[in-house]
Amino acid sequence: MSLLIKGGTIVTHEESYQADLLCDGNLIVEIGQNLTPPEDAEIIDASGKLIMPGGIDPHTHMQLPFMGTVAKDDFASGTVAALAGGTTSIIDFVIPNPQQSLLEAYHQWRGWAEKSHANYSFHVAITWWDDSVGTEMENLVKNHGVNSFKHFMAYKNAIMATDDILVSSFTKCLELGAIPTVHAENGELVYHLQNKMVSQGITGPEGHPLSRPSSVEGEAANRAISIANTLGAPIYLVHVSTEEAVDAIRYAKDHGHTVFGEVLAGHLTVDDSVYQNTDWETAAAHVMSPPFRPKHHQDALWKGVQGGTLQTTATDHCAFCVEQKSMGKDDFSKIPNGTAGVEERMMVLWEKGVNEGKITPNEFVALTSTNTAKIFNLYPRKGCIRVGADADLVIWNPSASKVLSAKTHQSNIEHSIFEGMEINGIPETTICNGKLAWHEGKLLAKSGEGQYIDRPAYAPFYEALTKRQELNQPKAVNR
Ligand code: URP
Ligand code: ZN
Ligand code: ZN
Ligand code: ZN
Repeated sequence: MSLLIKGGTIVTHEESYQADLLCDGNLIVEIGQNLTPPEDAEIIDASGKLIMPGGIDPHTHMQLPFMGTVAKDDFASGTVAALAGGTTSIIDFVIPNPQQSLLEAYHQWRGWAEKSHANYSFHVAITWWDDSVGTEMENLVKNHGVNSFKHFMAYKNAIMATDDILVSSFTKCLELGAIPTVHAENGELVYHLQNKMVSQGITGPEGHPLSRPSSVEGEAANRAISIANTLGAPIYLVHVSTEEAVDAIRYAKDHGHTVFGEVLAGHLTVDDSVYQNTDWETAAAHVMSPPFRPKHHQDALWKGVQGGTLQTTATDHCAFCVEQKSMGKDDFSKIPNGTAGVEERMMVLWEKGVNEGKITPNEFVALTSTNTAKIFNLYPRKGCIRVGADADLVIWNPSASKVLSAKTHQSNIEHSIFEGMEINGIPETTICNGKLAWHEGKLLAKSGEGQYIDRPAYAPFYEALTKRQELNQPKAVNR
């Protein structure tokens, strides 16, 4: 089954040029001028449009059991939303309960994800520690295509990883050629401030940002980076939302450390005024961690994106409906944390990034696909348009417009944090594994057609890390 895309402009993270592109099976097999299609080929006219690598969202939580409920978008609906927005792959999170076997949780999530319409892979969270956890990490890396492990420094009394866990797990990651990732917020401070707010009678959603000020993230970001640097391990910070955390990453990078930063489309564009909304439902719909921030943090995030301190964009798609959010009606700390966005991420970045002159279309590709593929060792299979790469593509119409709204989004929830945002330049066709998956507003992919993506250990950045480790071996003094 082949597919010829004719007359479009190919945009990669490096260059833009006009060419036809032929896909056969799930691969790109030819790129060139005036390609002659095989007889049975399906032909798409992409004149006036851009052909880019399908988006990769490195941070989603489909069907996540969390805070006493389960996220409303599962792997079926969540990946439909992804395809509708030009994203062809997600990296979701296996989050074992404390004391649960990592492999048991991993297989549980693999089962849930079988109904995916788009491709998927998994980070695995380290929520507890004993020697068996290290052994299971090794099994996941060597036999199950996992090369990244997540650590929640917040969520005390649930899944929080304390410093001793970070040290053990980061050490193991380094030994295995995997990358540790962190949700950087000081869980002890959050817990203390949540109790303080509630005891002062601040029980509404406005208590959420008050219990998670930017210094809470800054402290944890600096701590996680320092622990990783001390051990010689790389580190990836998810959902960086503050100037303090951007500064911490920049400082470490300037000092030669291997540190990566991810930013969410939401944190780049939504500010903390949402928590002052007098409508409880609307304010609660924005409760996620870290919270939306005052505007000067957004400026710092954009500068981080432009300057290369933040390399990837994600969504943290973790959708809870109004009824679920109501679990925290009398106490904001019980509102399930999470917002949607997997559908809107690329459009928001195009509108607020490319159309506002902050980034180029090539940088857009790097930020929405290529950099994630490189860091998590999927490149050049994903995140790339070249012969031999996977045919995961998005055809972008820079002249078409739409207004984002919960009324028209694919997610199962009633609110959108991007409600009313006008987008000029939209994904019109999404091609996943060489097949039309989403075309002009219609879903063509079937549930179960998404494929699991194996991610081998030792991403290219490890070469320098391993060398440094060898050169810096401590030596005893001969006496
Ligand atoms: O509020 C959020 N972000 N919910 C999902 C879990 C997490 O912290 O990433
Ligand atoms: Zn297994
Ligand atoms: Zn998080
Ligand atoms: Zn998350």
